[in-house]
Amino acid sequence: MVQRRIPKIKDLAPLMRFKAPELNAKKRRLDSALTIYDLRDIAQRRTPKAAFDYTEGAAEAEISLTRARQAFEDIQFNPSILRDVSTVNTGWDVLGAPVALPFGIAPTGFTRMMQTEGEIAGAGAAGAAGIPFSLSTMGTTAIEDVKAANPDGRNWFQLYMWKDRPRSMALVERAAAAGFDTLLVTVDVPVAGARLRDKRNGFSIPPQLTAGTVINAIPRPEWWINFLTTEPLAFASLDRWSGTVGELLDSMFDPTVTFEDLEWIKAQWPGKVVVKGVQNIADARKLADLGVDGITLSNHGGRQLDRAPIPFHLLPDVARELGSEMEIHLDTGIMSGADIVASVALGARFTLVGRAYLYGLMAGGREGVDRMIQILGDQVSRTMRLLGVNSLEELNPSHVTQLERLIPRVVAPAAVAAAEAVPARRSPARKPATAASGASTVKPATAAATAAKAAKPVTKREAATAADA
Ligand SMILES: Cc1cc2nc3c(=O)[nH]c(=O)nc-3n(C[C@H](O)[C@H](O)[C@H](O)COP(=O)(O)O)c2cc1C
Repeated sequence: MVQRRIPKIKDLAPLMRFKAPELNAKKRRLDSALTIYDLRDIAQRRTPKAAFDYTEGAAEAEISLTRARQAFEDIQFNPSILRDVSTVNTGWDVLGAPVALPFGIAPTGFTRMMQTEGEIAGAGAAGAAGIPFSLSTMGTTAIEDVKAANPDGRNWFQLYMWKDRPRSMALVERAAAAGFDTLLVTVDVPVAGARLRDKRNGFSIPPQLTAGTVINAIPRPEWWINFLTTEPLAFASLDRWSGTVGELLDSMFDPTVTFEDLEWIKAQWPGKVVVKGVQNIADARKLADLGVDGITLSNHGGRQLDRAPIPFHLLPDVARELGSEMEIHLDTGIMSGADIVASVALGARFTLVGRAYLYGLMAGGREGVDRMIQILGDQVSRTMRLLGVNSLEELNPSHVTQLERLIPRVVAPAAVAAAEAVPARRSPARKPATAASGASTVKPATAAATAAKAAKPVTKREAATAADA
């Protein structure tokens, strides 16, 4: 029988701690976001459908993006216990200069259309956090204004080679003159991917006022007030364009660019050169031989070739083979600091976030981007400490097991031969990889890379049987 008593006022007093209400609505809104997905939901409420869908969408059936996110979800972390993790260092050097966190802001086009502060918010927030900001060739803020917003931090310029080459190289020269330290050369847009959401929404650059957009604008007045009362969107060819983004890209971009052109571009740039959009180990090898400083394993956030390889699955093999020759960076699908830590563990020196940044921007301008960096940074630091490491250098493949949901069904005979040569190794079908056995030995990426060398494919089951033999 429970003994009851009348509560005393002095017992209740410590329980009654009413917090003063937060009067700043934006701060209240952003503080309520605990994850990047929360920022996304706020962004969706505040941004017209066409601009939000342009940001969130990917190409065709959006399978590349779904798979990339699934690959991050399908990992297992393997922590070590009883380590002193009272301090943690989330920074190191990337391309010869320090970064406070192992991620930076990816280049994105038309950014002021998502939220009027655009690149100024991104560059300012990146500078304050000690991480690099990347400005797209299709950016909506002048190179010099980005430099002014992030005068002491690191700015990277992303190049798309246009048919009008002198015009794109003039931008490169301006970026160099403004002290941008890295050139990201994006190579995965020979032609535009099919962004079906944009077609369906009738989304054009600049946005058109139709009956549909006006109705959609009614619950989102702030976006429209901002849009109509600030400088019109401007970038290289915007004033003479009216059409979808895909049509714009196809009209501007040069589909003839080759490795020789890349060599020429590299010779024009005084700083570091990173090639963004690498999707197989053979191309990565060619780029290492060409002497680039880094590559970004990326499928452009799933916005180009749908069903493209998952960058996170390519990572371990590329890092193992080429990580000592150049830096391996990665993007596509990152929505959490845990995704970033897993990437570093498997060999990425650096990662880029595209949509995570834009969700923050759309949710609250500069403060929204600050919040995005804070959320990812806290997740990076917490994940590292829970794994039992104090620094990024300590992260290694044994900290991550890639679980096998998206393994290619076809495995090369070479895999069989390799498996036969190591009779002690058990089949993944019978025994999952453990930290001790080395996570990177049992995973889709290995099978994918081996499959690339295949002469005559066999099924994974056959390979596994051979491994057991
Ligand atoms: C709205 C949007 C615009 C983009 N514009 C560019 C661009 O102009 N140049 C470029 O190299 N990549 C561009 N990207 C790709 C990003 O740089 C990056 O590769 C991608 O967003 C990473 O995937 P995530 O969005 O899942 O983080 C864009 C991505 C988005 C979402």
